[in-house]
Amino acid sequence: MSLDFLGNLKRTHLCGELRAAHAGQQVVLMGWVNRRRDHGNLIFLDLRDRSGIVQIVLDHELAPEAQAKGEQVRPEYVVAAVGKVRLRDTNEINPKMDTGEIEIEATQLLILNDTRLAPFSPAEEAIQNEEVRLKYRYVDLRRPEMQRNFRLRHDITMAIRNSLSQQGFLEIETPILCKSTPEGARDFLVPSRIHAGQFFALPQSPQLFKQILMISGFDRYFQIARCFRDEDLRADRQLEFTQIDLEMSFPHREDVFAVAEKFMASAFAAAGVTLPTPFPRISWDESMRQYGTDKPDLRLPGLVDVRAAFSDEDLAKLQIDPALPVVAFRTPNVGDLSRKEREENHPLFDIKKGAKFIDDFKRLSKGFATQAAKVRELVEAAAGDFVIIAAGDPAHPVKASDTKFPGRLSEREINVYMAAGNFRSELAKKYAARHGAFAVTEKAVTEANPWVGQPLVEGAKAFQPIWIVDFPMFEYDLATGKWMPAHHPFTAPYEADMPNLVKDPASVRADCYDLAMNGLELGSGSIRIHRKDVQKQIFDSLGISDEEARLRFGFFLEALEYGAPPHGGIALGLDRIVMLLAGAPSLREVIAFPKTAKAIDLMAEAPTTVSDEQLKELHIRVALKS
Ligand code: AMO
Repeated sequence: MSLDFLGNLKRTHLCGELRAAHAGQQVVLMGWVNRRRDHGNLIFLDLRDRSGIVQIVLDHELAPEAQAKGEQVRPEYVVAAVGKVRLRDTNEINPKMDTGEIEIEATQLLILNDTRLAPFSPAEEAIQNEEVRLKYRYVDLRRPEMQRNFRLRHDITMAIRNSLSQQGFLEIETPILCKSTPEGARDFLVPSRIHAGQFFALPQSPQLFKQILMISGFDRYFQIARCFRDEDLRADRQLEFTQIDLEMSFPHREDVFAVAEKFMASAFAAAGVTLPTPFPRISWDESMRQYGTDKPDLRLPGLVDVRAAFSDEDLAKLQIDPALPVVAFRTPNVGDLSRKEREENHPLFDIKKGAKFIDDFKRLSKGFATQAAKVRELVEAAAGDFVIIAAGDPAHPVKASDTKFPGRLSEREINVYMAAGNFRSELAKKYAARHGAFAVTEKAVTEANPWVGQPLVEGAKAFQPIWIVDFPMFEYDLATGKWMPAHHPFTAPYEADMPNLVKDPASVRADCYDLAMNGLELGSGSIRIHRKDVQKQIFDSLGISDEEARLRFGFFLEALEYGAPPHGGIALGLDRIVMLLAGAPSLREVIAFPKTAKAIDLMAEAPTTVSDEQLKELHIRVALKS
């Protein structure tokens, strides 16, 4: 078979844009053959490009040459079709296709390229084997679902760019080859050829540069910034990812919130979802108490303190630690579970944390009928709601050293809340089909039509953002006996808490904030320290010596001495936002060329070894243990 050249042929339309109104028009279309149906003298090709699919008719009677060529065509061949748009007969109309009212009566068909047989077809649903999808990513990305995800990603990104630009932010690029940034993950290092034995680090975020841009007088900066972190991958974590990163001068926290809420509302509107503002807020302590996590999912009921349902005697009999919280939560509409079904849930509970749970209300009712009824009443359980009580296990008594945040929540308390919170979200996932709370999100994702139609007001229920505020400034590290910053060390403490920095670090709150949505951390930021004296106090309270500070952040500390304005900002994970709005189960569905969970690029086959010459130039010797 000989392939055709494009010659002078020019594409006139995209496949998916043709409608009944185009009937009678001459068109030239180009794309991939999605499917081919051969009825002898009549061949039908479904031609696909990024806009959609249209049916091409190759009729031996009308265009014998084109029809003959059609016989050679196979799925995924690249072809050009020249012809006329015609209305389909009424009984041939396909209501499932956007272009289902018409078809193209081809006069000419060009075969621009053939193809090897790929291990799967873009015309099918995604295949289960993700590794094969990632190896043949170019074929996978042709699938309409993936095309939609990246169109969505583009629209969201543009909406955010426009919103920030309109809000007076300048987009400024910061270096990729830089010095280690203090985000707390492992750095990717790049050896310097020119400076033997020295390394650049890839930025974990543009943190220090954006602060320096404030010192440089830019007032409002943003960047759709690539960040690199050498950490273990999960569904919501990649080695390289994209942040919507911004910083502003002279802000109060409220100003940062208002800016972020505005661009988030624009981003969601671009995806066809109305996101009401302002977003609700919760303090970190409350978030732990009510949801057992600092990234709460508000689509389901939270934890309820049910301590009041039990006397001390009851707790002793039930072997529950009276010094720790007793909480309960309900998963709606689960229905009665057999003992076996309940036992199958037990591995979902993280027992390592010294917390225990009661899930058997029938048994509890035997000795503790009123208490059990009271618990169900406190959590407002309807018949059919599955209720769990979580509490401290006296087999793991509280030790003085467990106290991570004296005066706030102890580590043991946190553990009970977290165990309950984790169990709550595991059960929420397991019984999603029964409680239906997540279906609202799925419905919003499916029905929101970003390119036509009205925004979906149901977004308010489907996507539930919440600001987490009043984080503790320090975490006590039991292993080293040191107070560690809970955030990067340039996060400002509350002005009111400054006097306690040294004498009572646990009580100091950080002026930082997270944005969570549907159980996912979308972003975090803070008001920064802009004064040298405060910075020194923080370093002192963290036990970071002048020398160590100078080595790690010398250039930045020096910059702070040259008239740094009060400043603050935030960074949101763009990939995560797109993942939520695409209804995708992992970031890999919204990143064109992602790494696998094992941190490999299967298509490009990276990482790999490199030649000895390359290593030599970089002054590097590889010492592998065999
Ligand atoms: P933080 O480290 O919390 O803050 O990151 C901000 C947001 O970036 C996203 N994110 C990731 N997304 C995908 N894969 C990853 N490995 C990954 N790591 C983080 C998350 C997260 O909420 N410089 C500060 C921000 C600031 O203080 O202004 C920072 O980077 O959505």
